[in-house]
Amino acid sequence: MIATETAEIFPLTTADAGRCAVIEAVLFDGDSPWPEQAFRSEIEAAHNHYFGLRVDNEFVGYAGISVLGPVGDRECEVHTIAVTPGSQGRGLGRALLDALLSVADHERAVTYLEVRVDNDAAIDLYRRNGFVDVGIRRGYYQQAGVDALTMRRDAVEGNDA
Ligand SMILES: CC(C)(COP(=O)(O)OP(=O)(O)OC[C@H]1O[C@@H](n2cnc3c(N)ncnc32)[C@H](O)[C@@H]1OP(=O)(O)O)[C@@H](O)C(=O)NCCC(=O)NCCS
Repeated sequence: MIATETAEIFPLTTADAGRCAVIEAVLFDGDSPWPEQAFRSEIEAAHNHYFGLRVDNEFVGYAGISVLGPVGDRECEVHTIAVTPGSQGRGLGRALLDALLSVADHERAVTYLEVRVDNDAAIDLYRRNGFVDVGIRRGYYQQAGVDALTMRRDAVEGNDA
């Protein structure tokens, strides 16, 4: 982060769905980017937590996670995390991931995610934040014909998350 910037992470509402879809189309071109309606559905789903990111009042990113399973045996799944190209490399993706993982830690949940095997930046981000490789899902990204790496982060223990 540049010291003079003001970054804010906040719960997304459906009013932000269009802004997400615009960024999504840039970042996931050729990878079945979600349209606005998909964001609306995911933001509205009760078991999901979606966050937006503003820097100096400009909407520059979003992230989402789902919480599944019964209380006491929760499992989380990272859906997405995205920062506009012009804002990458300044700690903002890490801040969004922290927001997602605070949800998982509150639920004492194990967390899974899928990431393209060629997405070095994201894989590095996840490995540095407690995720380990679980396995490969062949052809998971069908439009691009690329495999996914499944990663897992264990649930936190104790009573102070
Ligand atoms: C992945 C993404 C969210 C990271 O956001 P970011 O704001 O650039 O990341 P940060 O600046 O917070 O960096 C956090 C960590 O990510 C990793 N990282 C970020 N950019 C990287 C790069 N170009 N190469 C390797 N690792 C990188 C590093 O581990 C970095 O930690 P460090 O700063 O201590 O080295 C961003 O690159 C993005 O939006 N990519 C396109 C969408 C995408 O692929 N999302 C993931 C789908 S699973």
